[in-house]
Amino acid sequence: MDLKFISTFLCFVLLHSSNTFGDHFTNQSDLETYIVHLKFHDQLFSNSKDVLLWHQSFLPTNLNHSSRILYSYHHVFNGFAAMLSSDEVREMEKKPGFLSAHPERIFQMHTTHSPSFLGLHQNVGLWNASNSGKGVIIGLLDSGITPQHPSFNDNGMPNPPLKWKGKCEFNVTNCNKKLIGARNFVQPNTFPTDEIGHGTLTSSIAAGNFVDGANYYGNANGTAVGIAPRAHVAMYKVCEVIFCAESNILAGFDAAIEDGVDVIAISIGLTHPQPFYGDAIAISTYSAMEKGIFASSSAGNNGPDSGTVMNGAPWILTVGASSTDRKISAVAVLGNGAEYEGESAFQPKNFSQKLLPLVNGKGCESLNSSNVKGKIVMCDRSGGLYSRMSQGRLVKLVGGAGMILINNKRLGSTTFSDYDVVPTTQVGYKDGLEIINYMESTSTPVGTVSFRGTTFGDKHAPTVMYLSSRGPYMPSQGILKPDIIGPGLNIVAASATPIAGQMFDLFYGTSMSCPHLAGVAALLKNAHPNWSPAAIKSAIMTTADIINLGNDPIQDETLEPADLLTIGSGHVNPSRANDPGLVYDIQPEDYIPYLCGLNYTDDQVSIIVKKKVHCTTSIPQSELNYPSFSIPTESSAQTYTRTVTNVGEASSAYTVEVFGLKGVEVTVQPKILKFTALYQKASFNVTVKSLDLTGHSQGYIIWSSDRYSVRSPIKVFPHISVM
Ligand SMILES: *[C@@H]1O[C@H](CO)[C@@H](O)[C@H](O)[C@H]1NC(C)=O
Ligand SMILES: *[C@@H]1O[C@H](CO)[C@@H](O)[C@H](O)[C@H]1NC(C)=O
Ligand SMILES: *[C@@H]1O[C@H](CO)[C@@H](O)[C@H](O)[C@H]1NC(C)=O
Ligand SMILES: *[C@@H]1O[C@H](CO)[C@@H](O)[C@H](O)[C@H]1NC(C)=O
Ligand SMILES: *[C@@H]1O[C@H](CO)[C@@H](O)[C@H](O)[C@H]1NC(C)=O
Ligand SMILES: *[C@@H]1O[C@H](CO)[C@@H](O)[C@H](O)[C@H]1NC(C)=O
Ligand SMILES: *[C@@H]1O[C@H](CO)[C@@H](O)[C@H](O)[C@H]1NC(C)=O
Ligand SMILES: *[C@@H]1O[C@H](CO)[C@@H](O)[C@H](O)[C@H]1NC(C)=O
Ligand SMILES: *[C@@H]1O[C@H](CO)[C@@H](O)[C@H](O)[C@H]1NC(C)=O
Repeated sequence: MDLKFISTFLCFVLLHSSNTFGDHFTNQSDLETYIVHLKFHDQLFSNSKDVLLWHQSFLPTNLNHSSRILYSYHHVFNGFAAMLSSDEVREMEKKPGFLSAHPERIFQMHTTHSPSFLGLHQNVGLWNASNSGKGVIIGLLDSGITPQHPSFNDNGMPNPPLKWKGKCEFNVTNCNKKLIGARNFVQPNTFPTDEIGHGTLTSSIAAGNFVDGANYYGNANGTAVGIAPRAHVAMYKVCEVIFCAESNILAGFDAAIEDGVDVIAISIGLTHPQPFYGDAIAISTYSAMEKGIFASSSAGNNGPDSGTVMNGAPWILTVGASSTDRKISAVAVLGNGAEYEGESAFQPKNFSQKLLPLVNGKGCESLNSSNVKGKIVMCDRSGGLYSRMSQGRLVKLVGGAGMILINNKRLGSTTFSDYDVVPTTQVGYKDGLEIINYMESTSTPVGTVSFRGTTFGDKHAPTVMYLSSRGPYMPSQGILKPDIIGPGLNIVAASATPIAGQMFDLFYGTSMSCPHLAGVAALLKNAHPNWSPAAIKSAIMTTADIINLGNDPIQDETLEPADLLTIGSGHVNPSRANDPGLVYDIQPEDYIPYLCGLNYTDDQVSIIVKKKVHCTTSIPQSELNYPSFSIPTESSAQTYTRTVTNVGEASSAYTVEVFGLKGVEVTVQPKILKFTALYQKASFNVTVKSLDLTGHSQGYIIWSSDRYSVRSPIKVFPHISVM
């Protein structure tokens, strides 16, 4: 099994917290963990004991409550998690104050160089302006952490801020000024150890301290450091292996909010999208947002199919994954002189550069030694089930000299720097087609692999990874998702369980891009303590890059320009995000008419916002004051209003320009926005009329002043009816 990529195709088992049941009235095997939502209570409870008593009053009287209630929640919503039978739930439904209950869902994980690729350098620019995130607390809901890893050393770290209320459930000597909290919600009262390594690497990406000489088998050697090296880390272990029980996720959020974190990173998602009132991450991050906590989350690893993006609530920053400009280069060299650059972290120094016979091993699931011994074997990923590593092991077993691994169409140009067992290069799909053409053009094809070490400056970077999940976001198509892309391919990060002495390992997936953006948010929080989560998000989105290092539009894995449903606002540019000029701010109460506009019932909206709601006003989704636009094609003209807040120069004027949007008439009114003070607001209307009712169209509106350029992507497409 390919351990580096945490597969999303595994069947999953339902995990229950082990529980010794104290009562004798119910057949224990009928019990399941239920998440129970209660109505907003008018009377205020003075302490958590009263809340617990109120929660217990919903259970049958004749049983041992403490063996049944797993968690009584305080911040994420009014309610609790309990072991109940379906009969007991039916009884509970009759009690006043009951709102809803469902069996808990199981969520899955989405599973060095990146700071400098993002333009972050010591003592200058954003790291200087933000004190490298000093004093900001990043809470991660994940698989635990390896506290002894050098990335969590506390050299140069300040004490945690006074507001910090968190706990260290390790042997206390394992926590320090870097790792200030660690809790275990999977097996309470045991160390929150990281068995699979996911939480250790996400923590090191977000806020790892400086570690010199970090490398992966001698490659990509350099100083390993997280995005916000002076931020504190708090780990909330809510996952066991890759499965994360809903009751534990909710408990993790409840604690993180109570403890006083500033930023939350969660690289976990549902397997199927749910409406917000049925999505624990959406509900919990709403409560976090109300307290000013910023939430970054992974878009998911189910690309490149459309409609696969997860964690798309508008109060979450939803992050897709792309490449960096660093490659651990291995080049396929052919007899006709052509060269195709691929990747491999196995870089044998003594591999002969002599051209060897090249044979087509197809899927390389079975090979005959007499055909391949001493040759370079071309293997394709058309089958896809047999892992890359297994293909390499077979080539080695039958005596092949090396392997050229070519991607299938779905993988496109996405290549991985695996530590291969045989001299290998993995090349992209288009290069693979040319290699096959060459092999078919001659009766004596020859080739070899040339190892070039770690290279920088790939002109295609950033390119979206094939697996990065794509929009539209099915539960709310009027919000453009993902919001942003960030580094997620071949990332060197802290390894929880060093193999062969490797303290750092190479990883990929949207799980890696999410903590990069949590780190960026921590830097911005330090630099702008009074900005709301929505303002930070807007700053990140309106300043993102939409061109790659080669000055072409950012591409996806097909090496064609990427759709807005793939990249959202573009690739994060932290330095520009620090000084955006204007922001699109959103107050917590602004989300209520938006949620009502999703046609949720009053009770469903109440579950999310945790107070009594009467949906008297509702707005279309695209009317939320979001920094990007996702607009349904309609025959009549539609007008959306946006309000921007001046965070640039007190006295400034912005003019608007519209780019792209073929087949759509766009008018913006007014065309000039003038400001005379900081934090002054100004509104404008965007009117959109589709001329072609079937097509997709995309483009940008850009507000520019002498100094700033504030870009909002606009995607117009026929929204899919899901009624
Ligand atoms: C409890 O339920 C299980 C399955 O529903 C059944 O096999 C078992 O016999 C029941 N036990 C009792 C004591 O009723
Ligand atoms: C109730 O359950 C708890 C936890 O399982 C246990 O510690 C306690 O002894 C039980 N009390 C009774 C009266 O059975
Ligand atoms: C670092 O930031 C301070 C203000 O916080 C500024 O005065 C100084 O010029 C900055 N230094 C560099 C090298 O950017
Ligand atoms: C805690 O760590 C200290 C120092 O490493 C060690 O001496 C002690 O035995 C540990 N305690 C436990 C309970 O593991
Ligand atoms: C990594 O770089 C450091 C500093 O440049 C050097 O001392 C060290 O030997 C290098 N390690 C490897 C494995 O190349
Ligand atoms: C290259 O070196 C490795 C170990 O140093 C050895 O196992 C391998 O056989 C060598 N390969 C060749 C082609 O000499
Ligand atoms: C391998 O190929 C040789 C020659 O074509 C053939 O004689 C032999 O049976 C094959 N072996 C297997 C295991 O297919
Ligand atoms: C909500 O209901 C109205 C009226 O039936 C409909 O026009 C609208 O499309 C619905 N909105 C959503 C998001 O389903
Ligand atoms: C924007 O549209 C709203 C409603 O359609 C209207 O009331 C308002 O006057 C418009 N503002 C501008 C500047 O056109």
